[in-house]
Amino acid sequence: MPTSPDLPTGLLRPALAGVDPYEPGRPVEDVQRELGLESVVKLASNEGPFPPMPGAIAAIAAAAGGQRCYPDPGAWALRDALAARLGVGAERILPGNGVDSLIKLLCLAVLDPGDELVMGWPSFLSWRQGALMMGAAWRGVPLGPDGAYDLDALAAAVGPRTKLCVMVSPNNPTGAAVAKGDLDRLLDALPPHVLPVLDEAYFEYLPEGGHDGAALVRAGRPLVVMRTFSKAYGLAGLRVGYLLGPAGLVRALHRVRNAFDVNGVAQAAALASLEEADEHLPPRIALCRAERTRMADGLRALGLDPLPSEANFLLVEVGEDRAPLINRALLERGVIVRPARAFGAPGGIRITVGLPEETDRLLAAMAGALAG
Ligand SMILES: Cc1ncc(COP(=O)(O)O)c(C=O)c1O
Repeated sequence: MPTSPDLPTGLLRPALAGVDPYEPGRPVEDVQRELGLESVVKLASNEGPFPPMPGAIAAIAAAAGGQRCYPDPGAWALRDALAARLGVGAERILPGNGVDSLIKLLCLAVLDPGDELVMGWPSFLSWRQGALMMGAAWRGVPLGPDGAYDLDALAAAVGPRTKLCVMVSPNNPTGAAVAKGDLDRLLDALPPHVLPVLDEAYFEYLPEGGHDGAALVRAGRPLVVMRTFSKAYGLAGLRVGYLLGPAGLVRALHRVRNAFDVNGVAQAAALASLEEADEHLPPRIALCRAERTRMADGLRALGLDPLPSEANFLLVEVGEDRAPLINRALLERGVIVRPARAFGAPGGIRITVGLPEETDRLLAAMAGALAG
């Protein structure tokens, strides 16, 4: 661990030396200030383009006055509502402060130095950080050509010290999902000392017939599923997600989580969102699919080759040398995208799919960036 003159020698755990801080997409205000631009669109963090659902906005306002008190520590109402909606027992559900926080909790509860987390790569950085921060080994397995996890290669990479076998599907940053049948086969193939984990942060965007982690948990499969309210539900700012898994694991995670980790406003908003999900999610998803197709067609017309995506973003490979230049040129045109280097794709640019006017703006900016 690099030393720092303002800290006692040896204070920090050596494992932290391998953990790079998570670099989020740049905020709009930041780019406006730096470049003196009035109008900036952010297509960098895979947030949904819609505000919270109307009932959630009302619930947020109603909850504001009650914030003198700590929230319900177990988020019981939210747990019960999720249990009813998903048909999974409440004892197998753990709401958390976003999936990001649940990833860290799972790693904290499970991984010791010498243990191993296996996952596909390029993929979601937090899983890698979670393993490395515990001093555990991390193994990234190359993806298939379509950008989805190669489940045979993943199973082959599992070793005697592997404890967590993580699948991100749809995968971030590539957007590709694994097929349901392939997932079933992998679950059958994994040895019993390994806990499979399915990160379904983009579950809502999957087409009909796609995998459904909740159904697997309901069927008694011993796996962990993670989902979030940050994307299709439009609650990224409130930080709320949930984990489904074996009851014994949920009990263990209660030992390591913070007592009040889902704040009261987030609990109220997530609960209200579930009540309106059937009404509001389908049009959101339909718009995302239409804009994703339009964006992909537009990028192809510019000579780029986005990977097929089942999520609310696209990955385009522009080459390691060109990626920072194109990123900068897009910024100067008021469009924030996400270079995918930290996710293991140094020549990739990840673009979140948003509203029609944002697609127009991105395509015009990209045309300018490629020409310039
Ligand atoms: C695959 C994946 N998992 C988890 C997360 C984190 O979600 P949350 O906002 O719930 O922390 C993200 C966010 O981008 C993601 O892409």
